[in-house]
Amino acid sequence: MTRKVPMGAAALILAAGEGTRMKSSLPKVAHRILGVPLVRYVVEAAHNAGCDRVVVVTGHGADVVEALLDDETCVRQEQQLGTGHAVMCAEAALEGVEGSLVVLSGDSPLLRASTIARLVEARETSRAAAVVLTTSLDDPTGYGRIVRDGSGRLSAIVEHKDLEPSQHGIAEVNTGTYCFDAAVLFEHLNRLGNANAQGEYYLTDMIALFRAEGLAVEDVSTDEPLETLGVNSRVQLAEAAKVLQRRINREHMLAGVTMTDPDLVWIAPTVTLGRDVVLEPMTTLAGVTSIAEDCVIGPDTRITDSTVGARAIVDSSVVVGSVIGDDTSVGPRAYLRPGTVLEARARAGTSVEIKNSTVGEGSKVPHLSYIGDATIGKGVNVGAGTITCNYDGAKKHRTVIGDGAFIGSDTMLVAPVSIGEGAITGAGSAIAKDVPAGALGIERCEQKNVDGWAARKKAGRGNDDQ
Ligand code: UD1
Ligand code: CA
Repeated sequence: MTRKVPMGAAALILAAGEGTRMKSSLPKVAHRILGVPLVRYVVEAAHNAGCDRVVVVTGHGADVVEALLDDETCVRQEQQLGTGHAVMCAEAALEGVEGSLVVLSGDSPLLRASTIARLVEARETSRAAAVVLTTSLDDPTGYGRIVRDGSGRLSAIVEHKDLEPSQHGIAEVNTGTYCFDAAVLFEHLNRLGNANAQGEYYLTDMIALFRAEGLAVEDVSTDEPLETLGVNSRVQLAEAAKVLQRRINREHMLAGVTMTDPDLVWIAPTVTLGRDVVLEPMTTLAGVTSIAEDCVIGPDTRITDSTVGARAIVDSSVVVGSVIGDDTSVGPRAYLRPGTVLEARARAGTSVEIKNSTVGEGSKVPHLSYIGDATIGKGVNVGAGTITCNYDGAKKHRTVIGDGAFIGSDTMLVAPVSIGEGAITGAGSAIAKDVPAGALGIERCEQKNVDGWAARKKAGRGNDDQ
């Protein structure tokens, strides 16, 4: 089965390593930045660079990692015998790939698509067997070093543990990002040995091997060492998170979004924002979320997997899996749970929780309410403290409120129940029976007033004769 890739490069992402220094039960590349696993950043960068075929090598915690990559091809490297061995494991999965094969590390979430594209372009113009992305570091400890020949051409990569004393001063390092000629790489792969300090099959040895064969090897450098930061510890995870946060925020600001303090705003890469959106401090926008123009979001707000219409105001609230219409207002301290739909001009106010419910156009739930499994029509006012009693201990039931109804404060709506159009419920009523359109539903003990009681209580005789 030979499949040709007519255009674009293929990418191989190495992600089988354990990541011991993370001190974690989670495989390293499954750790998240802005809600997205590290390996997904690398996969997205490869796709965005035009790689139309992406293969990921998994090993440590493979089940967990593969679950994060449902649309990608994964191959297993059962034993981690080195980066060269990881590539060997992918040979069958990459069968038929011709031309450029980009090799990346799953733990480098900052690598840009444009840099990958630059590598591919360099290889395609030079027709080299390999192009290596290099950078110079103040402290190159731990990295493979770039060794050049008399004419300054890349001749070998030497791993830190295999350096000769004279090579320790080399500041130029291998970033672990390459573009190979796929056919040439696989032709020579079986020549890799593991006679080195770590007893591993090093992919980096391909460089000296190619040069010995008289094949061309090129390098491209990046002067932004941060871009190639590999995440090996939680400290580096936080560093990479900061860089990504700033990079994403900067793009939104340049596109017309105001942030009072961009260091206090966290936006997932999967979020879209309209123009003139204002993001106040301590705002997190996560998952697949879109915010239309002119909204004011925050402070102290988290919105996940939700759609927010134009000119909405969301203050100090948590919104998950909800759809919020144009000109709506949410909070302070509202909690909109999955399945909430606020239609245009609706309001979910202070300390209001709504779940799996639609609040119709212009309807208001302004204070201290729980609305679950309800359909509320247009122009409805739900009084303070109203609760839908949607759960009978076994099953959930629906509440339906017609257009223009007025729900008195502290109404208990014992579902299943429906309130007709324009109906009114008396404050403090437990409404367990349907209220017809236009009717008043009231359920309350009659009030008794005891004349002069207050004065008698003051005199110490309050309880005598009520
Ligand atoms: C590697 C390079 C080194 C470079 C550095 C840049 C080699 C031999 N060395 O070293 O020159 O400076 O990256 O960060 O390639 N992996 C597997 N299977 C394995 C081993 C590793 O999939 O058997 C994966 C890891 O999950 C990781 C990547 O390959 O994503 C790099 O492996 P790692 O062990 O981190 O290599 P370094 O020692 O950092
Ligand atoms: Ca590494």
